[in-house]
Amino acid sequence: MNQDDLKRAAALAALEYVVEGEIVGVGTGSTANHFIDGLAGIKDRIRGAVASSEASAERLAGHGIRLFDLNEVSAMPVYVDGADEIDSGLSMIKGGGGALTREKIVAAVATRFVCICDATKQVATLGRFPLPVEVIPMAREHVARRLTALGGTPTLREGFTTDNGNVILDVHGLSITDPVTLESEIDHIAGVVANGLFARRGADVLLLAASDGVQRSVRN
Ligand code: A5P
Repeated sequence: MNQDDLKRAAALAALEYVVEGEIVGVGTGSTANHFIDGLAGIKDRIRGAVASSEASAERLAGHGIRLFDLNEVSAMPVYVDGADEIDSGLSMIKGGGGALTREKIVAAVATRFVCICDATKQVATLGRFPLPVEVIPMAREHVARRLTALGGTPTLREGFTTDNGNVILDVHGLSITDPVTLESEIDHIAGVVANGLFARRGADVLLLAASDGVQRSVRN
């Protein structure tokens, strides 16, 4: 099985968390794309979906899955998404695809976050993957200085604009032993829209695919 097969296996395992007759929150990325394709097979059993990016919205619509604006939805039982890294406490780094802010917003409305990953995403300590931070363009240099003061090395993601019209700083060189605290510290820098640490609201369930099957972990 290659890495893409493992992503698909994790994504299809998440279909059992979809609640009949309800709206599903849908993430962004190559693993989430497999989930969307799987969701197409049961689309008559759900009310529809809220997407965390324009790209996922387009893929969902292509399958004929009804899209809801998040402002029309006060609750949803489940949000399903991938991650760039996940630790044993089910805290994550997300945003490799740049959709972190909308992912965090949609996840906040969901009762349960189901994370779908291949086994390469599991780490002992978050930070080997550069931490994405979405920033208002005029604040780019100010935020970069503050991130450097926190011990990281931020680089501008060249040629990339988020769905919200902002830029991304990818922060290298962090060893994140206290993700909850760092998530809050970065969020408090003026000009930061959101950062890719999902620790205050981590995953509730991890479906981790390896060659010997999909392993399930539940947050304590
Ligand atoms: C998108 O912004 C990200 O948060 C993705 O969910 C994450 O990068 C995982 O992507 P893949 O499933 O493509 O590895």
